[in-house]
Amino acid sequence: MPALVLLGAQWGDEGKGKATDLLGGSVDYVVRYQGGNNAGHTVVVGDQKYALHLLPSGILSPGCTPVIGNGVVVDPSVLLAELSGLNERGVDTSKLLISGNAHIITPYNVTVDKVTERFLGKRKIGTTGRGIGPTYADKINRVGIRVQDLYDESILQQKVEAALDVKNQMLTKLYNRRAIAADQVVEELLGYAGQLAPYVADTVLVLNEALEQDKVVLFEGGQGTLLDIDHGTYPFVTSSNPTAGGACTGSGVGPTKISRVIGILKAYTTRVGAGPFPTELFDEDGEALRRIGGERGVTTGRDRRCGWFDAVIARYATRVNGLTDFFLTKLDVLTGWEQIPVCVAYEIDGRRVEELPYSQTDFHHAKPVYETLPGWSEDITKAKSFSDLPKNAQNYVKALEEMSGAPISAIGVGPGRDETIEINSFL
Ligand code: IMP
Repeated sequence: MPALVLLGAQWGDEGKGKATDLLGGSVDYVVRYQGGNNAGHTVVVGDQKYALHLLPSGILSPGCTPVIGNGVVVDPSVLLAELSGLNERGVDTSKLLISGNAHIITPYNVTVDKVTERFLGKRKIGTTGRGIGPTYADKINRVGIRVQDLYDESILQQKVEAALDVKNQMLTKLYNRRAIAADQVVEELLGYAGQLAPYVADTVLVLNEALEQDKVVLFEGGQGTLLDIDHGTYPFVTSSNPTAGGACTGSGVGPTKISRVIGILKAYTTRVGAGPFPTELFDEDGEALRRIGGERGVTTGRDRRCGWFDAVIARYATRVNGLTDFFLTKLDVLTGWEQIPVCVAYEIDGRRVEELPYSQTDFHHAKPVYETLPGWSEDITKAKSFSDLPKNAQNYVKALEEMSGAPISAIGVGPGRDETIEINSFL
């Protein structure tokens, strides 16, 4: 069995943690390939709830090797805190592997993220403030610090000095902040080196060898398709590629090895941070989705913006990721609505538009065109098979499937590990 990718088909927070964790028991490696501790997975195992930010959710499945790939940006202090938090709860984290090529989120990257957002004022992106964008910017500008640099003090010193040369000018002259001392940063980073050393590995080699031995490798995307730096609602996006291609560049595994790309799709839509969102609700329905769906960010604690399902976005996700199927999550949240509107197209300046417009201006003007589907009131959390669902819930799922362009292979009907209907096995 070759490699599979699981990624968010909307703006993130689709419930990927549940999906990855569901597969975690049967896969040998779970790999994060982009993003950093801006992500947030909630995984419920039995009566235990785990909030993971940086670690792949496979960390909770014994027998599975969790991998932080080269495409991820790592804040060592967050990583070590997350590891010790899990250790205190009896979770064995010793199998974790971290790519030596992954970039490090330095304290100055976090500072730059925060001051830039403050400086942008009303035009801010609404980032998570975790230093993600500035760290990727350093990577692309070739002044980034990589995990492997922690093991060569003189290289580390040179690189930190080079990175701070320009940043300190900016911080002091533009943002009116104090300069950051390179020596202090180096000292802090070197302090993490020993603790991280047991995990650092040539993950490209490990993963390719694993695939040669027919091991199952699962790539877990952070954020979601519409937050992709290339294919998302730029500039209101994150600074990496959560879309399927990112799984290859962010891990060093070639596209020919990937046989399945599963899009996680919430039965309605949410978004955090700024940016366009055609089906956003500002009324009591939006408030109810937020309350019933527990739509509050795992990482930042911010309320998520909520709206009805948007099939235009789902079709777009199918296209840009080459999705083979969907995992539909949180269907239970919609229980109780008499009628459920679903966005099937947009109206843009008087025209009906079926596909996501590439133009930012058009997308900002997009108004949802709704079709209304009949709802259901029965509790669906105990449903074990598709036929256990009330007829209207079945029809809702079938309608979404038809509009979204790929089969729905699993349905989440509650937060717990076992509250899932499997229609087609993922493995
Ligand atoms: P950044 O990733 O912190 O730079 O934030 C950029 C945008 O992506 C902001 O709108 C964030 O709210 C959003 N974002 C980042 N990570 C996540 C996530 O895991 N779920 C949902 N939105 C996210």
